[in-house]
Amino acid sequence: MNNHLLQQLSIHPLPPQAPVPFELLLLADPSRKMINGYLDRGMLYVATLQGEITGEYLLLPESQSTIAIKNIAVQPQWQGKGIGKSLLQHASLEAARLGYEYLQIGTGNSSVAQLYLYQRCGFDIKAIWRNYFTEHYPEAIYENGIQCRHMILLEKTLTA
Ligand code: ACO
Repeated sequence: MNNHLLQQLSIHPLPPQAPVPFELLLLADPSRKMINGYLDRGMLYVATLQGEITGEYLLLPESQSTIAIKNIAVQPQWQGKGIGKSLLQHASLEAARLGYEYLQIGTGNSSVAQLYLYQRCGFDIKAIWRNYFTEHYPEAIYENGIQCRHMILLEKTLTA
């Protein structure tokens, strides 16, 4: 995407009466049950371009000092154009504005592109929850020919 189009991207909280773009959240998390477990406790932000929702992220407070991006996704036709990076930058600014010190994000061991993107955006690996996906998801998940078994937790220290 060229800078001109990215400049038109608006990222803002989902308005109270607007429907949740559930299909988009399912791109990041295949379990409706898991999504329903955090949706109501989180703050959902959407990225719009000319009125169309192109992406989203959801922030969920974990403690007084830490907030996590529990779900982040960009519509397939808009992926690879810089929107994901813009959402991560926005999430960092928003988390700092809300007074948090740390921003966390978790992804599977098989999510190679996401691990690349998150580290490029300043996140560092903090922990590995072994067998998280095999224990919490009923179906086996495969990506890039690798079984998704473990959760890699990454963290970024925010500067106010
Ligand atoms: N393979 C390799 N590199 C990639 C890929 C890919 N599939 N996708 C993005 N990248 C790279 C880009 O080249 C770019 O790198 P650069 O800055 O060095 O040029 C960088 O990652 C940023 O790319 P963006 O265009 O900003 O990313 P995008 O808009 O595609 O958003 C996202 C990334 C959110 C992961 C999107 O691809 C997506 O929605 N994927 C499906 C859902 C998903 O996996 N969500 C994350 C699950 S984990 C969680 O929700 C906490």
